[in-house]
Amino acid sequence: MTIKLAVLGNPVAHSLSPLIHHHFAQLLGHDISYERILVEGDFATQVRDFYLAKALGCNVTVPCKLQAYDLATELTDRARIAKAVNTLKFMGMEGDKLQVLGDNTDGAGLFLDLQRLKCPLENSKILILGAGGATRGILPDLMRSPAQSICIVNRTVTKGEDIISYLSTQLSSSVNLQVSSYEEFTGTYDIIINATSLSLHKELPKLADEIYQQAKFVYDLYYTQEGGTVFTSKAQALGVKHCYDGLGMLVGQAALSYQLWTGVLPDITKTLAYIRSLGRH
Ligand code: ATR
Repeated sequence: MTIKLAVLGNPVAHSLSPLIHHHFAQLLGHDISYERILVEGDFATQVRDFYLAKALGCNVTVPCKLQAYDLATELTDRARIAKAVNTLKFMGMEGDKLQVLGDNTDGAGLFLDLQRLKCPLENSKILILGAGGATRGILPDLMRSPAQSICIVNRTVTKGEDIISYLSTQLSSSVNLQVSSYEEFTGTYDIIINATSLSLHKELPKLADEIYQQAKFVYDLYYTQEGGTVFTSKAQALGVKHCYDGLGMLVGQAALSYQLWTGVLPDITKTLAYIRSLGRH
């Protein structure tokens, strides 16, 4: 029987998720349908209608991740901590209430990609740029990593402080955490992660060249299908050898969603190569 899946959001027309999941299924010999559903009316009603059409689950993207969190009747630990849900798995009806498990695979998706790229996390000093939803999603996994320290630099310092004080109550971590403004920020860092929305607008953060030059590994959560962003291009031009955009994270979070639905973790590498090859045409 065909496994019925979808991504719900607004906008969704640009979403690569159907291509990614169909490729996973093809590699694994599974029979799936994965569609894009534009959320225009009531999110909960659209989710319920999709379940009633015999769906197994769905991904949820911007701006519905908080609504998905509210809708879930059960949460994984990582979704509870993130207070946002990007994956729903339907578990049937209880009376007239849909039972749904909510997960958040964004942070673990980044972690999977960092492992694939052999990112030198052990004892590292990590710099994260930005303190929005993306940073909240990835920080728990980085706090559990073998890194030595994480410094969050953000235009609005209080947002970084709020994230750290919240997460410190949710999980124990031996990683040293700091927050700074761009103006007061100093130090040397091994790994730089751009979690701002700047690359989307082809803009760069206010970061001195030396900060890039001292880094061993640069990652932008934003991606382009061809590979690279203004941020990774800048780092590359300044001599950083290992620079990556976030397409691998996108495929990583998709793989973990697929695992929640089917019990099988797909291979990221082959699907990532396939999606990149589409961008080169
Ligand atoms: P997301 O959910 O993708 O993280 P967001 O919550 O809007 O999106 O966060 C965007 C991040 O990019 C924020 O950290 C934001 O900084 P502020 O918290 O100070 O708003 C950062 N950002 C956006 N435009 C920026 C700019 N021009 N300079 C520096 N940081 C910027």
